[in-house]
Order: sequence, then structure tokens, then C-alpha cells
Amino acid sequence: LQVLAVTSEVFPLIKTGGLADVTGALPKALTRFGIRTHTLVPGYPSIVSMARLHPPLMEFDNLLGEPATLRHLEIDGLSIFVLDAPSLFDRPGGPYVDTNGLDHPDNWKRFAVLSLAGAEIAAGALPGWRPDLVHTHDWQTALTSVYLKQMGASVPTVLTIHNLAFQGQFSASLLPQIGLSPEAFSIDCLEYYGDISYLKGGLTTAAHITVVSPTYAREILSSAFGMGMDGVLNARLDQLEGIVNGIDTEIWNPATDPYLPHRYDQKSVRHKAKNKAILLDRFGLDPGEGPLFSAVTRMTWQKGMDMLADVADEIFRWGGKLIVLGQGDSEIIARLNETAARFPGKMAVSSDYNEAASHLIHGGSDAIIQPSRFEPCGLTQLYALRYGCVPVVSRTGGLAETIIDANDAAMAARVATGFQFHPVEPEGLRHALRRTASTYRDKRKWDRLQLQAMRADYSWDRSAERYGDVYMRLARSGHADRI
Ligand code: ADP
Ligand code: GLC
Repeated sequence: LQVLAVTSEVFPLIKTGGLADVTGALPKALTRFGIRTHTLVPGYPSIVSMARLHPPLMEFDNLLGEPATLRHLEIDGLSIFVLDAPSLFDRPGGPYVDTNGLDHPDNWKRFAVLSLAGAEIAAGALPGWRPDLVHTHDWQTALTSVYLKQMGASVPTVLTIHNLAFQGQFSASLLPQIGLSPEAFSIDCLEYYGDISYLKGGLTTAAHITVVSPTYAREILSSAFGMGMDGVLNARLDQLEGIVNGIDTEIWNPATDPYLPHRYDQKSVRHKAKNKAILLDRFGLDPGEGPLFSAVTRMTWQKGMDMLADVADEIFRWGGKLIVLGQGDSEIIARLNETAARFPGKMAVSSDYNEAASHLIHGGSDAIIQPSRFEPCGLTQLYALRYGCVPVVSRTGGLAETIIDANDAAMAARVATGFQFHPVEPEGLRHALRRTASTYRDKRKWDRLQLQAMRADYSWDRSAERYGDVYMRLARSGHADRI
């Protein structure tokens, strides 16, 4: 089975969050089911510099008025199609924002062009290759299925929602410029309170919709979590399912991780202490005993890091320390910095994006905090499990189903893997931090909890099989349509 994945991020080429981890790992996990994926990504500067070393695959004369070249790269077991459209993608800044952190003003065009290129390839524009199915991710590539519908192409599409909070909402006046006919501006397609919503276009036209955990799949049907799309999602209930994310167990393996000064596995987890000492030193914190809590996350309201700024003192009361790594909202970062200033030697904040530091933090911390207000799946808590960091999480979305709270029953049954709190409020987080610190003081109990965490299996195997089933089902129906 041949799949075209269309995405705005893919690890290791370009990453701002978990989307990249998923699009980078899933194709590899799918190969053992006989599924071959080619992944179309924008030609951002870091990517085109490599891709231009190879001869082009084809030229697009006109993608919404832009010429573009399709290039190819093989990297880390992934086959990548690169959309080299310099005026749209080869510019400074990140995938979505400029060097000042502001959205690129032409994001509506950049991701419409990416989606259109995906649709054209899916419909047979690339000589000699045609996919059986297209897999799109989030609003940035959701228009692919809208274009395919307009072209009358029957190739099936699956849209995965990683985060409903980002919807690609733009002025309806842009409709002619994205090459869609007025019919697309209907309540059953792109129209969203007078604007156009790329995500809604995908939700209404994709053959199948997945989200990144079963719990989130249920939550988003309610107005509390539906972000205004709950009506649309309820209307597509029969085509909606949740498949929990896995982790790339080669990249996230404490026994082989090149970023760890001291590697370890379940039998040698005591070596973690040496990483902890190095980590404390690297972040300028006092050496010594006490639990080391960390957070590696985008600094946004979603992730609840403002709450952590308010209750971090609970950690220091029990002799603990705290490291926070993350970029995002400057107000939240300022609040965390204020707290850190009140506790010198105990708390460090780094607003850097640093893959190496994130691995070392997992390799040396005792606990990882993720107090999200909503969380479609969450990956850091899964990396934490593998690295023997005990996750302290809010009970929502993927966090609710991937972490088993260390209550008495779960501890007695030896299945607990972390600490959960609910409702998602500062006092709930404070209480969870206190419970964690208290368990840490009981060494035997802590060691057992840590080992149970490390034994949890969140490799891609099971979830890749679920995606494989979805693909097979859709591809069969697609072939039936074409006959
Ligand atoms: P989301 O996609 O909502 O940001 P996830 O937990 O699914 O949340 O994935 C976040 C990913 O981004 C993880 O791989 C995490 O390690 C990584 N990450 C977040 N912030 C940073 C940072 N400042 N430096 C390095 N990695 C980061
Ligand atoms: C999103 C979500 C996160 C999820 C990731 C990968 O960014 O916020 O919960 O793990 O996508 O699917």
C-alpha cells in the first residue's frame, strides 16, 4: 500500500512539537505492515539546502500563481517529498512564525499551496507514482481533501487532528485566491461563522478522521473541548476515532541515547543519579538530595505552565528542585522567571528550543510535570515513562489514559506509573506535587513506581496497526470507487 502523507512538520527535519515526532515515527512503524509512505513537506531553508543537491522530481507550473519544484530526500528511513517554493517557504523564522514570533502574514497561502500540491500528487501529477491513500495532519494540510473533492478525484483521505485549538481561520475574501469554487464556501464545508476554516474543510471532506487518543476523541464531542467544532465532529461520529500516539523507541531509549552522559536501562537505573548531578550543574542549580522535577513543553495556556509558576514553592518546601525548558508565551515565561528569582539555586528556566537538553532532562530528572488544561495525547509524559521519570499530569485527554495514578489500589496492584490530578487547577497541581514529594521520601515505594513507569509500553507497534487497519479499509473503498 502506497501512502502520501502531507504535513507541515516532520522529525528530524523540522519540529515545533509532537506533530513532528508522530509524522517522523509513524511511517517507519508502518513498514512492517507492508505500507510505504512518502511524506510531502514544505521546503523550509534547512530542508531545501539538502534537497537541492538532488535532481528535481517534477515542476509545478502554477500552484495558486506560484511556480514550485518537487524534490526528494531520504533521511533516517523516511522518504520525503520536498515542495521547493522559495517565495513561500525559503525564508527566516519558524514554520509558522517570523523572526519576531509573529505569524507569517501569508500562512493562508503557504499551507493552501502545500495542500494543493498534495492533492495534485495524489491525483496523479507525479509521473510513475500514485498513492492509494492520502494522510493529512492538522489545519495546515486539511485543505488537501477539499481540493481533491473539487478535482473529482476518488483517492481516499484520512485527516489526523493533533490539536483542535489550531484551525486555520481566515477571511472569506481569500476564497478565490486559494483556488476554490464558491460552492466550497458552504456550512457543510469551509464556512465558519462568516470566515473560512481550513480545519473545518478537512473535517467535512476527509473520508476518515482520527485524533491522537481515544479520550480526546470523546472529549471533543462536547462544547467544553470541541473548540467550536463539536457540532461538525458529532456529525461525523461514524468516521471519527482516537488512536493513541506511540514513541520512537530508537530515538527515545535511555540505554543508547547519545545525549546522555550516562546511559541506563531498567536494571541499571541507578546511573540516572549521575545524569542528575550533571543536569543540576548545567542548569546552575545546587547539588544534593531531593527530587528533581522538570517540565519540557510549549509555554502556552494549554500546557498549564502558568499554574506551575504559582505553586512551584510546594516543590522547594520538600527539598526539591525544578527545571523548566520551553518556548512560547512571554508572560508565562516571565512569571516562571519571577518564581525562579525567588528560589535561587532551586529553580531554572530556559526559554530555548533544545533537543539535546530535553533528552538530558529526561535522563536526569526524577519527575516530569505536565499540568495541561487539555492534551490531545502528549508525548513528553511517554518519554518520561521510558526514562524512569515519574509523570505528574492533569487528568485530561491522552494524559488521562497513558498514566495510571499511584493511588493505594494501583500501587498494591503494581500498575501505577505516575500522579494525576483533577480538576485542573493550581491547588490540584499543588496537591499532586506534595504527593509526589512524599512518595519520593519512601525509597522502596519510589523505586517500584519508577520501574513500573519504565515497563509501560508505548512503542508504536499497536497504534501503527490501528492506522494500518484504517488505511486498508479506506484503500479498499477507494479502489472500489475507481472501478
Ligand atoms: P505538543 O505537540 O502539544 O507541543 P507533545 O507532548 O505532543 O506536545 O510534544 C512536544 C514535543 O516537543 C516533545 O517531543 C517535546 O520534547 C518537544 N519540546 C517541547 N518544547 C521543547 C523545547 N523547548 N526543547 C526541546 N524539545 C521541546
Ligand atoms: C499536538 C498535541 C499533543 C500531541 C501532539 C502529537 O501538538 O498538543 O497532545 O501529542 O500533537 O500528536
